[in-house]
Amino acid sequence: MSNDHKTDIATTGIVEGDIVEFPLPPHHHRLTDTDPRAARRAERQVSTMFILSGLCIIAFIAAYIAIPETSYLNLGPAGTIQTSNFMLGLTFGLATLLIGIAAIHWAKKLMSDEEIVDYRHPVGSPQEDRDAAKAAFDAGVAESGFVERKMVRRTLLGALALFPLPLIVLLKDMGPLPGDSLRHTIWRKGSRIVIDVTGQPLRPEDMQVGSLVSASPADLKAIQEADGDQNARAKASIILVRMKPSDIVSEQGEGWSWNGILAFSKICTHVGCPIALYQQRTHHLLCPCHQSTFDLADSGKVVFGPAARAMPQLPITVDSEGFLVAQSDFQQPVGPSFWERA
Ligand code: FES
Repeated sequence: MSNDHKTDIATTGIVEGDIVEFPLPPHHHRLTDTDPRAARRAERQVSTMFILSGLCIIAFIAAYIAIPETSYLNLGPAGTIQTSNFMLGLTFGLATLLIGIAAIHWAKKLMSDEEIVDYRHPVGSPQEDRDAAKAAFDAGVAESGFVERKMVRRTLLGALALFPLPLIVLLKDMGPLPGDSLRHTIWRKGSRIVIDVTGQPLRPEDMQVGSLVSASPADLKAIQEADGDQNARAKASIILVRMKPSDIVSEQGEGWSWNGILAFSKICTHVGCPIALYQQRTHHLLCPCHQSTFDLADSGKVVFGPAARAMPQLPITVDSEGFLVAQSDFQQPVGPSFWERA
C-alpha cells in the first residue's frame, strides 16, 4: 500500500473492521448474453464437441476389437508403431480433449456471467476478547504466587534450566565422532574383487556385456572377524557393470575401468540406499528409494533425482593371475553427502 493511499484512508475516517466498498470496473456483457442467436450457436458448438467425443469413444472400442495386434503403421524415419496402440491412443486422447474444450467453451460462453464480491473480514480477535485473555493470564500469575514466592520461582527456573541436560548427555550413546573414517573404505591396491554372497573371485570373462554383479573385497570377512566392523561391509559394497568400451563417455579417472568393466559404490549418494537397478541399454543406475538416477557410462553423474553428487567410482584392473582387483581405495567418500555440507 502506498503512503498516499494510507493518507487517503486516514482522512476518510475509516476504522479497522469497517467494510469499504470500492467501485468495480463496468461489467461488459458477452455476445451470448445479449444475442440469442450467438447463444444458440455456442450451444450447438458445445454439443457438437460432446457428440464428437462420444464418436471417438465408439471408434476406440471398434479399434480395440477390429485391429489385429500384428498390424503395424510405418512412420517413416520415426520407425513403426503398432496400429492398435496408435488408434487407441488417438481416439481416447481426442475424446478427452473434446470433453475438456467443450466444458471450457460452455463455461466461458453460456454459464452465468454474474460478478460476485466476497469481502475479506478482519482475522484478528476483537479488542474485548484480547483484553479478557490478558486479564485471565494476569489473574493466573497472581493466583499462582509466582511473583511473591521468590524461592519457588528461583528453584523452578533452576530446575527448568537443568532439565534438558540428560538429552545432551545421552548424545554420547551415539558413539564416537566419525572423524576421517567416512572418507575411507577397506579397499586397497590389489584387493581382489569377489562376488557378494558366494565370495568367488571374478575374471573379466565372467561378465557379459550388459551384466551387473554385486561385489565386495576378498579380505572383507577377515576384517569383519578381526574387529567386528559391520560398517566396513556396507561401505565397501560395490557393483560391477560391463558395457562396450565404445559406450563409455567418461570416467572419474583415466584407466579406472577394464575392457568396459566399471566398478561403482553401491551406496546411493542421496541418503544411502543400496542400489542395483541397472538399465543396460541406457547404462542408467536407478535408486529405488527416491529415484535418483546415475549415468554409469558418463562418470556415474546424476541425471535425475535428489542425489547431489555422482556415484563414486572404484579404480580397477586385473592382477597377474587375471582376476579383477582394485587399483586403490575410492578417491572420494562413499555414501550420503550430508557431512560434507555440514
Ligand atoms: S537414497 Fe537414493 S535417491 Fe534417495
